[in-house]
Amino acid sequence: QIAAASGHTVVLVDQSDEILKKSTKGIEESLKRVTKKKFADKPEAGAEFIEKTLKNLTTSTDAAAVVHSTDLVIEAIVENLEVKNELFKRLDKFAPEHTIFASNTSSLQITNMANSTTRQDRFGGLHFFNPVPMMKLVEVIKTPMTSQKTFESLMDFSKAVGKSPVSCKDTPGFIVNRLLVPYMMEAVRLFERGDASKEDIDVAMKLGAGYPMGPFELLDYVGLDTSKYIIDGWHSLEPNNPLFAPSPLLNKLVAEKKLGKKTGEGFYKYK
Ligand code: 3HC
Repeated sequence: QIAAASGHTVVLVDQSDEILKKSTKGIEESLKRVTKKKFADKPEAGAEFIEKTLKNLTTSTDAAAVVHSTDLVIEAIVENLEVKNELFKRLDKFAPEHTIFASNTSSLQITNMANSTTRQDRFGGLHFFNPVPMMKLVEVIKTPMTSQKTFESLMDFSKAVGKSPVSCKDTPGFIVNRLLVPYMMEAVRLFERGDASKEDIDVAMKLGAGYPMGPFELLDYVGLDTSKYIIDGWHSLEPNNPLFAPSPLLNKLVAEKKLGKKTGEGFYKYK
């Protein structure tokens, strides 16, 4: 959405036409929200902006077939290293020489993904935050193999889509998730111990620390499955780190497919 809105030609790739239809609809709705504010007194200019943005956006279910005409690939698939590596390995065969590959992973190692390709110097991390149209930050991740030219291109692209980039080494969780995920897990543990209700914890962090959402609201917003992938991955890397300990409650909710806002229920229920 933000790439198309800033004049880039974008091909959105997913597994089925049904998912792509849903995604396009989500983008249209999000564009309407953005436009309402940006073009408050100029509805015609707003309509034109939406039309122009959507013109920049096409969809496909065949990544290998469309990658030949792209300068930048941003992967945002399931948080599973093997699946990501398989995709990158396949795309590496079809993408032009100059094409940069980037992962939007929340917590997995970029270096490992880069090593599944022959373009380690043209590989980095581009980590966006939910909701992407609103959150100004992008973390740009440079592995020891990422060339300076690639790093600068990723920084430039982040600025071109209207974001403020920061850089971080290829370390678990980069900056934001390394701080945010242990904080959210501590909130779950506080609740699991019965020390406070989830409602009170959320109110406390909003009114006492000025956070826009409480930790349970944010967990539901990010997705409990995503949060579980992150914490499980880190726990396997550092089993003795208490900040990375899995939570029985989080595991139970995910097993029950209560994944947060997207499924209508997580820690809270949504209509
Ligand atoms: N698309 C477009 N606009 C959106 C939007 C979307 N998806 N979601 C919200 N907005 C807009 C609304 O239209 C509204 O615009 P307005 O000011 O013109 O009315 C504005 O954002 C504010 O929205 P709301 O009034 O509905 O609600 P809030 O004021 O609470 O803001 C929020 C919503 C921006 C999501 C805010 O609550 C917030 O900043 N929450 C914290 C989000 C956060 O921490 N994100 C990081 C998660 S971690 C992550 O993503 C990393 C990953 O790896 C796990």
